[in-house]
Amino acid sequence: QVSCSVDKPVVIGLAADSGCGKSTFMRRLTSVFGGAASPPKGGNPDSNTLISDTTTVICLDDYHSLDRNGRKEEGVTALDPRANNFDLMYEQVKAIKEGKAIEKPIYNHVTGLLDPPELIQPPKIFVIEGLHPMFDERVRDLLDFSIYLDISDDVKFAWKIQRDMAERGHSLESIKASIEARKPDFDAFIDPQKQYADAVIEVLPTQLIPDDNEGKVLRVKLIQKEGVKNFDPVYLFDEGSSISWVPCGRKLTCSYPGIKFAYGPDTYYGHEVSVVEMDGAFDRLDELIYVESHLSNLSTKFYGEVTQQMLKHADFPGSNNGTGLFQTIIGLKIRDLYEQIIAERAGTPAEAAKV
Ligand code: ADP
Ligand code: G6P
Repeated sequence: QVSCSVDKPVVIGLAADSGCGKSTFMRRLTSVFGGAASPPKGGNPDSNTLISDTTTVICLDDYHSLDRNGRKEEGVTALDPRANNFDLMYEQVKAIKEGKAIEKPIYNHVTGLLDPPELIQPPKIFVIEGLHPMFDERVRDLLDFSIYLDISDDVKFAWKIQRDMAERGHSLESIKASIEARKPDFDAFIDPQKQYADAVIEVLPTQLIPDDNEGKVLRVKLIQKEGVKNFDPVYLFDEGSSISWVPCGRKLTCSYPGIKFAYGPDTYYGHEVSVVEMDGAFDRLDELIYVESHLSNLSTKFYGEVTQQMLKHADFPGSNNGTGLFQTIIGLKIRDLYEQIIAERAGTPAEAAKV
């Protein structure tokens, strides 16, 4: 007796450059929905898809129309629209949104080739993550909510050095060169998508340490578009006010350089937004409850849920700063959005759709 439309997936887009925290974000998101995600069982071990009880996350690299060789021959990067099949992306996201299964290609990151497709069933929540979820207008219009992870050049560089130098043995020069080589296409095709995002998590060097370029302490902004259906922005203390808050003192342990929050209205690419900002890092994660209790509209189901989620994944990158905090909060907002959409379709109050 449940009508078909109730079962149709809610579609979320997550855009960012590679190595900018998309998979970490996805792990936080699926955890909010109550289950860890894993690759499809019995399928291609190089599949980029992650499936949990409620959520399927696909990686848009699977819509590369040119494989690694093809890109080399044509002299185009993976960021170039010419290396990607937006017609197929659109058709398949549309089919999933209509509740139909798809045979999605697989881009094999190990071989650089396109593998035989895998069958993807429509889930409750379908996330498309990658370089171009908001690039094509047709695909963009299918998204119920979109997020852009905006990592500033300095921070991207610091993260890449950490990972590629420490873990993969690349040289500083080669890391610099690969970032430089991507930059023109990144600026032309990836970065402009942030104007369409309903929420942007912007990661900048700290302002608490003069001339810092280590990228260890971060200033993170959660930029939330106003007037988005089923999305009620989070605020600090008093909705619509401009606030600067240094919570360090009796209730929060802060070592150098401390923690600073800010909140207020702003405009972003011509849209009204409200921005919550955190600069600095938590010393003790359990004390986050103090900060949580001063934030409103968090879409938590119980007091302390943000802190509990952060403690649960304390080992994920960014758990002691604004990246982890805001990713967790957006995860809760997506759960809320999902419940509102489902309740609306079923014609019942949101309570009925709780997951
Ligand atoms: P993506 O899926 O976009 O490629 P990942 O989530 O796998 O990105 O993160 C890639 C790497 O970037 C991590 O291994 C880590 O080194 C670094 N990283 C990601 N997010 C953060 C963060 N919030 N703080 C610090 N480093 C991070
Ligand atoms: C994927 C990633 C890109 C990366 C590419 C490597 O598509 O999403 O960010 O650049 O693989 O491509 P390459 O042509 O260097 O093998």
